[in-house]
Amino acid sequence: MILANTQQSFGFALLAIVLIGTVIYIVAKIRAGRPEVGSEIELAPNRKEYLDDEELEGRKLNAALFSAAGLLAIIAVALPVYWLAEPGRQEGAVESFDETFVERGQALYETGAQCVNCHAGGGVGGVATFIVNDQNGQFVAQVNWNAPALNNVLYRYSEDEVRYVLNWGRPGTPMAAWGGPGGGPLTTQQIDELIAYMWSFQLSQEDMRKEVNGLVEGIDPGLAERLDAVNKSNEGIESPETANRLSRADELALGEILFNNQGVGAGSYSCARCHVPGASYGQPWEPFARLQYGSFGPDLTGVEEQATPAQHFDLVWQGMEEGKQYFSRRQGNPQMPGFGVNPNAGQSDKGVPDLGEAGMFTPAEVWAIVTYERNLSNDLTVKSPEAGTAESPTFAGVAAPGGDDASGDTAAPESE
Ligand code: HEC
Ligand code: HEC
Repeated sequence: MILANTQQSFGFALLAIVLIGTVIYIVAKIRAGRPEVGSEIELAPNRKEYLDDEELEGRKLNAALFSAAGLLAIIAVALPVYWLAEPGRQEGAVESFDETFVERGQALYETGAQCVNCHAGGGVGGVATFIVNDQNGQFVAQVNWNAPALNNVLYRYSEDEVRYVLNWGRPGTPMAAWGGPGGGPLTTQQIDELIAYMWSFQLSQEDMRKEVNGLVEGIDPGLAERLDAVNKSNEGIESPETANRLSRADELALGEILFNNQGVGAGSYSCARCHVPGASYGQPWEPFARLQYGSFGPDLTGVEEQATPAQHFDLVWQGMEEGKQYFSRRQGNPQMPGFGVNPNAGQSDKGVPDLGEAGMFTPAEVWAIVTYERNLSNDLTVKSPEAGTAESPTFAGVAAPGGDDASGDTAAPESE
């Protein structure tokens, strides 16, 4: 150890005192021994005249008691000092342990398991060449499948959910099973090392905001401005469900952008990559033609019949938990991410880094996606991104009901 911290200096000082004391003691003993030559009778301890009671119970006793008290004091001080410094020592140990994990994870990511080939350096997202086969194993096409950015993955999934993907992979996609449970080559510890490495490159909330804002601005600057105004008006609100929202037309337009986006973060912010077959490899959005291959999540057309707007919002906001019920009867699947809150927030007592409460999208954005999804059955909804923005260019700054789907679970598709 090169680093001399407080505990070490303290230790060195104690050691020095003990060593010097020992030397003094030995020297004193040797010197006291000198005159003994030839005078055994005089000096033999049992022949020597001993101290009288007065001295024995006075000076001598006091000296013994004082030195005992002195030693006790040293122990009494040293122990608390040691324990006071202990958390620091442990933190240091955890830190260097974490660093080792991160380094090993990086080595796996870049060379061992070659995650880098698809997800790119630093997890910014990339692309994987993949052969799509049909159910009978017949070749359909060779495609370039977006490998989502991982520099935001711990905002939408808990550590366990990420572990699940790494262990089991995503059947039917280029993402293979890497962990033992799914028959992959990596050990439990190597999976943990990869997760530690992923923690080390997560974007800040600010940088994630920039990615989303940049995406919207690139498509519709006016919408981006109105979105920014609503987002600002919602800062610090208590209930995301009753947050201020964009106009209905803006929600449909923004919902379409966010739902389908494959341009930013290699599609990691989008819903289509799991809910629209082929979206990950550039198939155009064809809401009514059922593309056959490569869908991972369910078709969402008709979701307005499955859940009230509030339930729907809640699901997209929180994501699913394994086995936990959602909507009225379904079991949660840990693969459906939460987009509003970071599932890893507030777990620092478990040693999980804290990136803050917020997830990938704001309440207004999640509402926009929900409104868009609840209108997938309505063919007027699915149109080019410019459409729908002209109708209500201003944000009123009030809590708009945001779409007339307050009636929620009605079966009829909504029309504008
Ligand atoms: C052959 C290309 C390829 C390799 C190699 C690969 N992945 Fe993936 N990975 C993908 C693709 C594609 C997806 C998205 C699948 C989908 O469409 O659902 C994915 C999904 C993921 C996800 C889930 C992200 C999300 O939000 O859905 C994680 C986490 C992940 N990969 C981590 C890794 C790690 C860590 C490694 C290295 C051990 C790795 N991947 C290696 C292609 C790859
Ligand atoms: C990584 C893949 C993935 C992504 C990305 C994803 N989902 Fe899902 N989603 C799923 C899976 C898997 C389920 C189905 C869970 C089950 O019931 O087995 C699901 C279920 C749902 C459901 C419930 C549907 C029903 O009728 O049961 C809704 C609503 C939904 N997702 C909305 C979204 C929205 C909105 C987004 C984007 C903001 C999104 N999802 C992004 C994988 C994904």
